[in-house]
Amino acid sequence: MQLARLLHAQGFGTRRECEGLVLAGHVRIAGRTCDDPFEEVAPAGLVLTVRGADWPVHEKALILLHKPAGCECSQKPRHHPSVLSLLPAPLRTRGVQPVGRLDEDTTGLLLLTDDGALIHRWTSPKQHLPKVYEVTTKHPVDDAQLAKLRGGVVLDDDPAPVRAAACEATGTYTLRLTLTEGRYHQVKRMVAATGNRVEALHRSGFGALRLPADLAAGQWRWLSGPEAVAGVPG
Ligand code: URA
Repeated sequence: MQLARLLHAQGFGTRRECEGLVLAGHVRIAGRTCDDPFEEVAPAGLVLTVRGADWPVHEKALILLHKPAGCECSQKPRHHPSVLSLLPAPLRTRGVQPVGRLDEDTTGLLLLTDDGALIHRWTSPKQHLPKVYEVTTKHPVDDAQLAKLRGGVVLDDDPAPVRAAACEATGTYTLRLTLTEGRYHQVKRMVAATGNRVEALHRSGFGALRLPADLAAGQWRWLSGPEAVAGVPG
């Protein structure tokens, strides 16, 4: 693929802007400055250096973000910055989107991708992809609440009960809840339906992925491919 075309596909601007980047000497491959925008390069496994920063080429972007509190997953955020503002500009230009949504005050594991088919598959209710939430509650967690969460609680928008795929107390005021659906404010509403209240919410797992302990809030990393969400067909 021609270098400028590859840069364009990776989100570095219009074809013309990408040609300009190369002509201005801002693009290197393996330490060599490239000066021909039409040079043929093999994208697989390639690491470009653009304006001094390394950029591993991925045909489709799959990003794991440790979402901090105080940012919105919406494309048109209303009260807080978008999670997309935490990513470098080329990823935004490529149209990377969150896979599902976390509330503004929820922290933890959020996947983002520019692969529309993956977003569709991983947000589909049919997929039953497990999501693990660490919940801090206002009142002590008791056995009756856990039994209700496991057995099913009725939310205000649907008479059919929703149940946790798994649920355990992890402390006096904390519990771990696994859901295989993704309804609006589902954890908060389920916990409220047991007579308790969510004070803090953190997602620690998505599919077979766990939030890496060394990834601080606000930081992100590339995932190598859909198979990284192991247990989910690519
Ligand atoms: N359930 C909620 O209530 N909020 C989230 O952010 C995610 C799941």
